[in-house]
Amino acid sequence: MTASAAPAGAPRAGVLELRGISKRYRGAPRDAVAELSLTVPAGAVCVLIGPSGCGKTTALKMVNRLIEPSSGEILIDGVSVRDRRPADLRREIGYVIQQVGLLPHLTVFANIATVPKLLGWPKDRIRTRADELMRLIGLEPEEYAHRYPAELSGGQQQRVGLARALAADPPVMLMDEPFSAVDPITRERLQNDFLRLHRQVPKTVVFVSHDIDEAVKMADLVAVMDGGRLIQCAPPAELLSAPANSFVADFVGADRTLKGLSLVRLEDLELAPAPLVAEGTPAESVRERIAAGALRPLEDAVLVTDERGRPRYWRAMDRLGEPAGTARVEPVLDRVTTLRDALAALFEAGAAYGVVVDGDGACVGLVGVDAITGSLRGPVARSEAA
Ligand SMILES: Nc1ncnc2c1ncn2[C@@H]1O[C@H](COP(=O)(O)OP(=O)(O)OP(=O)(O)O)[C@@H](O)[C@H]1O
Ligand SMILES: [Mg+2]
Repeated sequence: MTASAAPAGAPRAGVLELRGISKRYRGAPRDAVAELSLTVPAGAVCVLIGPSGCGKTTALKMVNRLIEPSSGEILIDGVSVRDRRPADLRREIGYVIQQVGLLPHLTVFANIATVPKLLGWPKDRIRTRADELMRLIGLEPEEYAHRYPAELSGGQQQRVGLARALAADPPVMLMDEPFSAVDPITRERLQNDFLRLHRQVPKTVVFVSHDIDEAVKMADLVAVMDGGRLIQCAPPAELLSAPANSFVADFVGADRTLKGLSLVRLEDLELAPAPLVAEGTPAESVRERIAAGALRPLEDAVLVTDERGRPRYWRAMDRLGEPAGTARVEPVLDRVTTLRDALAALFEAGAAYGVVVDGDGACVGLVGVDAITGSLRGPVARSEAA
């Protein structure tokens, strides 16, 4: 995660390219993976999704050569994985397997330290790295480092699996349904933890899921597979707005419009300017600003703020200068709020507009129901917004 944790050597970008990969298991009547071509840009999260048995795990395992393709080629930063020793490859590619797969006879610390040890890191560096990762995944080293996997909850085990895969700071991560074994609340937390980590240290990630909500939330690119074939590969917004065929549409589900709203945050929208007036401004100078075109009231009202720009109350023009009322501004929405949550808050408050604030609570604009529903009309590429 830190620069110091990366082994010395050439910078590793982690562009992953699958070129026409097929795999037919011995004696099988058809390919488990058929002609799969896919490019994951460096630092992007690609979610492989599709029904059970469609070839997701097989595709993943060909990247680190746990399985050899029958044909096709896989390149990392332009170098074919076939030209790499499998042992080297697996040290450079973090792998979170479908069933957690912690070594039961090793402590949490020893599990996390596996790859750094193989890489011959000095003891104190391994210790520091393991402590750092344990704090990142929310497990205090003092309490958990010496426990065995059986002494952890399912969610904690998955966290350790994640820490172990991250240990040597690999540029590429393969994650096979990493959060499937936990309850929905823990899963949401793990997903958020992962996204937070990924924002800090972007890695090229191939993430297998069969949960479309998880895919929409986590992915820069979603690759939908069926029967070993790639059906559609697109940013989540495009997948939701323009499913390639009925299989994808069914997979995405009937409420894909609402799912699309979870994809975009208020900060991604162009907000309407708020008619801000600092508390205590004389009514006359408010009118002057309006006359000069510097202030445009909304439905004949202005938004009065405190000295730090935080919204206090709406004030009708014909009552300018009257003392502060008790009416609160509702809803006030942090700009990281998803459109889905923002819409719910607007409906709940029965308001046409919400006031959007930054992390300090200062008003940065207004959002209306129309702006939210309007955003659904065109595909909003999250990658662009980001
Ligand atoms: N070692 C193997 N030998 C023969 N066939 C296999 C082997 N592993 C997987 N298969 C078959 O290949 C196909 C793809 O399996 P794979 O494990 O890649 O699916 P998956 O998409 O990961 O499924 P799931 O969502 O259930 O994990 C399946 O039909 C499976 O039965
Ligand atoms: Mg699988």
